[in-house]
Amino acid sequence: MRVNGKHFRTLWLAADGRSINIIDQTRLPAEFWVVRLEHLAEVVAAIRAMQVRGAPLIGVTAAYGICLALADDPSDKALRTAYDQLLATRPTAVNLRWALDRMATAISATAVDDRVGTAYALAAKLAEDDVATCEQIGVHGERMLRTLWDQKGTRQPLQLLTHCNAGWLATIDWGTALAAVYRAHDGGLPIHVWVDETRPRNQGYLTSWELAQHGVPHTVIVDNAGGLLMRQGKVDLCVVGTDRTARNGDVANKIGTYLKALAAHDNSVPFYAAVPSMSIDWDLANGDDIPIEERDPGEVHSLPGIAAHNPGFDVTPARLVTGLITERGVCAASEPGLLELFPEQGAG
Ligand code: MRU
Repeated sequence: MRVNGKHFRTLWLAADGRSINIIDQTRLPAEFWVVRLEHLAEVVAAIRAMQVRGAPLIGVTAAYGICLALADDPSDKALRTAYDQLLATRPTAVNLRWALDRMATAISATAVDDRVGTAYALAAKLAEDDVATCEQIGVHGERMLRTLWDQKGTRQPLQLLTHCNAGWLATIDWGTALAAVYRAHDGGLPIHVWVDETRPRNQGYLTSWELAQHGVPHTVIVDNAGGLLMRQGKVDLCVVGTDRTARNGDVANKIGTYLKALAAHDNSVPFYAAVPSMSIDWDLANGDDIPIEERDPGEVHSLPGIAAHNPGFDVTPARLVTGLITERGVCAASEPGLLELFPEQGAG
């Protein structure tokens, strides 16, 4: 994706071939700042502090955390410690566990002397796979946006609402929900994005920054404005990302997503989630058991003597989700819908 006209990914190997460079997302949109991570502890801290964030990016960053740990010590014990420390950083995004399991399985089966090479090769593959997956989500999502625009039957821009940041900053490149927006915009589809601020971390400003870099027309709104805009007929569809989608199509995403889905349902506004297969937890029958991250109440406010509660995510039931945009196509938010696209995950 472009930053001031130059192509960037959110994570790349440093010139020493060992450390990784990340974009410090806690400094955006005020400042574009690249940070080098050289050891496991720095990767753990960067994920916890949300210098890197977004489910797909968390997964790939953790994979490189394993690489850095093994570069210091390729033993089984070091692998286990790195796995446990990284897994404990953030509980909701299933991409983290998915990436760590892939790494641990491959490395455990590799002779100690070859582990570092195996680890870096696999982490690089996970990054490339993420880019390809997001690009395909963009292809299918763009098709869906074009269909909706044709149905709209006017030459007016398609009005899309999104919550949090499901753009390239949340992945290695492209993004998920925003991949469709970028492709549609580049392909000449008139589109305007309502960007929820997404309190308390304000990831909406990351979305706004990305969209501005790409020249996509957009407007930032406070989190509570979406319902009004939907009632006023100013939203044609909502598209969000996901941190974990259960087998039945229940979608966990940034806190506030559920309220948007309720408002969309009440106003017959289509509500889509962009779902890379790495974000599907096939082991969960529904979203009830998705762990919800509890974040520091200090992110909500710093007023003395007033309690605050800060759940980071919520679960939108599948019945409120019009469709899931995956890398294999768009499907119904249901187990049969998902299994049509991913038959290899079927029961027997
Ligand atoms: O707390 P964050 O910023 O990591 O949460 C990010 C989101 O909720 C995104 O919508 C989700 O990870 C999907 S990103 C493609």
